[in-house]
Amino acid sequence: MIQSNDSTTSKLPAVLEFFSQDVAEFKKQLAQLESEIDKDATAVPNSDLHKRTIAALEQSVIACRKFEDEHEDNPELIKEVQARFREETAPWLEQSWFANRAHTKPSGFAGDYEMLVKIYEGATPARGLGAYLDLCFMDIPLANAVRGRKDMVREYLEKDIANRTGDIRILDIACGPCREFLDWPEFAGRSIEVIAMDNDPVALEYIEATVATQLPKGTTLIPTRYNAMRAKKSEATIKKFGKFDIIYSVGLADYLTDEQLVGIFSGLGETLNEGGALVIAFKDTERYDETPYQWHLDWFFYQRTVEDVLHIFEEAGFNTEKMDLTRDRSGIIVNYVSHQSPGCIRRIDSAELSRSARAKRKSTSSVDSQQQD
Ligand SMILES: C[S@@+](CC[C@H](N)C(=O)[O-])C[C@H]1O[C@@H](n2cnc3c(N)ncnc32)[C@H](O)[C@@H]1O
Repeated sequence: MIQSNDSTTSKLPAVLEFFSQDVAEFKKQLAQLESEIDKDATAVPNSDLHKRTIAALEQSVIACRKFEDEHEDNPELIKEVQARFREETAPWLEQSWFANRAHTKPSGFAGDYEMLVKIYEGATPARGLGAYLDLCFMDIPLANAVRGRKDMVREYLEKDIANRTGDIRILDIACGPCREFLDWPEFAGRSIEVIAMDNDPVALEYIEATVATQLPKGTTLIPTRYNAMRAKKSEATIKKFGKFDIIYSVGLADYLTDEQLVGIFSGLGETLNEGGALVIAFKDTERYDETPYQWHLDWFFYQRTVEDVLHIFEEAGFNTEKMDLTRDRSGIIVNYVSHQSPGCIRRIDSAELSRSARAKRKSTSSVDSQQQD
């Protein structure tokens, strides 16, 4: 039973209706599919069973979104109802490898390196109904966007390295499985050093065993355990790792608060070599529906528009007019690229702030004195 406070009590009939009609219908459809699908079966794409699983999920997503739209002024109620929705549907949804991993979060959050590897491989690890659910989760817009995001950053890296001369140092923040470095080309006569930074030791073991060992001559990938939050302090980062020509982060920013991002971006701007590039990927909330992630998978990101993200970069001292924005092939992911060159990063440290505060005081007092005249 939903524990309601005063504000949620008034909504209770809507909640009861949601569970007795929409959720009950979804559970009925899942139970029916489960009874028809061999428990050891692998999923057959585009089969009748696949189409019916898609239809059941889509109908449920519509119902959840409608409930959320109708109660957007009551986030606590939505949170409670989401939790109960997942509890009631878990016997079926958790047969999916993806839903099970997203719900249980063995690494503490849903988007860990193993989840990413499965998305990149288009894997459907479960069997029976779970395999069909995996197939559907593999193909929702955001899963396609995650694959597009990885390809876009790979393209960026190759192009940027080709446009530069000499040796290059790259910092990959929250590198996860580093799949963008598979089948990596050789850059003849040049040294490409990549510090692959993540705070998950298992992800680092994976890249040590799977990615670092298959790189061509000249490229070195150094898996490094480090918390991205520490990148706020550029002096410490530079002391430990030096400066970089390219710093990028893909798949982390959507999990961090504005305040955390402002600190990190500001620190990273100072960690770039002259002419260096900072590349950060964000999801564009206006280009996808977060409903199946939040309701069915319990997988949450900060929802930001392009304007929201640009505001964060402004706050971190970047001249957003000089930034390049590119979208992945799904249109959902935006890469924000800024350079360490004159006019691209403004100084916003305390010296600068106190100067502008003084300027403001002076202009105010001159207005005051004019008014007194
Ligand atoms: C969604 S994955 C993205 C991985 C990779 N960049 C990619 O796109 O395939 C997010 C990664 O961020 C790492 N991560 C989360 N919080 C972190 C932190 N505070 N410092 C360093 N890494 C972090 C996780 O361990 C995970 O590997």
